[in-house]
Formats: sequence, structure tokens, C-alpha cells
Amino acid sequence: MSKSNFTIEEMDIKLKTNFIGTNFIFYDEIGSTNEELLNDKSITQHGTVLFADNQVKGRGRLNREWISYKDNSITFSILLTENLNSKTINLINLAAAISVAQSIENLFQLDLRLKWPNDVLIATRKVCGILVESISKGDKLERVVIGIGVNVNQPMFEGHYNVPPTSIRKEHGKVVSRERLLAEILNEFEKNLKKVNKSPNDILSNWKSKCKMIGEKIKVQDGEKEFFGIFEDIDENGFLLLKDLKGTKKIFSGDVSPR
Ligand code: BTN
Repeated sequence: MSKSNFTIEEMDIKLKTNFIGTNFIFYDEIGSTNEELLNDKSITQHGTVLFADNQVKGRGRLNREWISYKDNSITFSILLTENLNSKTINLINLAAAISVAQSIENLFQLDLRLKWPNDVLIATRKVCGILVESISKGDKLERVVIGIGVNVNQPMFEGHYNVPPTSIRKEHGKVVSRERLLAEILNEFEKNLKKVNKSPNDILSNWKSKCKMIGEKIKVQDGEKEFFGIFEDIDENGFLLLKDLKGTKKIFSGDVSPR
């Protein structure tokens, strides 16, 4: 395998966090950063970030695969082990999506959109996917892992995707620094994570302001089931509220597409 072009020092200079990423674990190659952080119980530090230069068995939502490219993407996971509450997991999901969108906006002046539950888009093209997983013992949540994959410098994409992909480079027109982007995402995430507990309404309103599908006719595909209606809102826990002729239904998971 060729040597990584990712420089930890360059990322570190831009990192302004108190605990997110202060323990930073770098792998040249790994199956899945989420799987590693969920299962390696010797890693316990709250805020640990595990970054893989080459993730070869990336996991996506709904048992899909997440394909990434060495040198051109960033794939990493953040471990939370303190102040965990199962009620806020969905808000953490939204906070992660907001953090990625804000970071790309801050650095590259692009207009980002969010798609429920946690896709980050540029116009209708997906630039980032997020997968939050957790481990509990009895009722107690022990580990929450937030996995983030961003398409950074891919010049093009081949193959079939359920949402058409894009990269920051394709949209911005230039190769961008993965180190700077990662540091910015971690900086934003630490700020947004505080808000999950202290001012969750800020997370909800920020997320909603970036979701252009609210008020629109949508289809939700949840396995074999399909639901149609108007995307009315998200509730205080981040679940989708779908309005149809019979009333309002709460949607817990699925793929949303416009109708
Ligand atoms: C999705 O959109 O389906 C979610 C994709 C999540 C991908 C990231 S990449 C880092 C982390 N490790 C994984 O195996 N998956 C997540």
C-alpha cells in the first residue's frame, strides 16, 4: 500500500477542541472505523477519534456498504462514553450532519443541504454519509459511535448509488485539504454536541433551516414498506412527521425521496 498523504500534525494545528479528537488514532487501513470503535473496549476515552486512511469495509445505513477512496475521502468515527442518553442519540445524529454541513460552508462557501435522517448534500448530490451506532448493557448506553464519511477529492464516481454522489472537489473546483476539513468538522461537532444537551431546540432549528424538503411531498421507503405524504416536520427527538389524509405518522427510519 502506498504511503498516506494525510498529515496528523496539519490537522492538529487546526484542532481547537477540548475533548473531541484529543485522543486521535490513525490507521493506514481498516475494515470499518465504526466497527473498531464499537468493539475495541480497550479504547474508552470520551471523544476519541479513529481515522482510517483507507477504509475497506465501510458500513452504511440500512446495511448498505460505504465506498471510500484512499487519499480522496475522509472516513472516521468519534467515540462518546460520557453523559449518554438514548433519547438524544437522534439529536447527536442531526448535530453531526449540521457540523459537516457548516464546516464545508465555512471553508468552501458552498450551499449545503440536509436530508433526513442524516445525509449531507450539495444540491441533490450526496457529499457525506453518517452512521451512528451504539452498544448498551441492560438499559445503560455504554458507547455511542458517530461514523462520518466525506467525499473530498474524488474527481469522479463510477457505479450505482441510491443517491447520486459528489465530492467537495467536484463542486468547489479545486483539490482541498483533508486535514483542514477534518479539524473543522471536529471543532463544529464539539460545539454542536454541547447544544444537544443544553439547547436542543438550536439543533432542531438549525437542522430544519438546512432541510429543503420540509413542506414537500415525499416518499419514505422503509424496507418493503412505502409511505407517501407531506414532510410536515421533525419532532423534538428528530423523528420525521409525515402527514397524509389519515393524519400524522411518526417515521423512525427509512429513505426519503421527493415525489
Ligand atoms: C450512509 O450514508 O449510509 C452512512 C455512511 C457512513 C460511512 C461512515 S465512514 C466512517 C464510518 N465507518 C463506517 O464503517 N461507516 C461510517
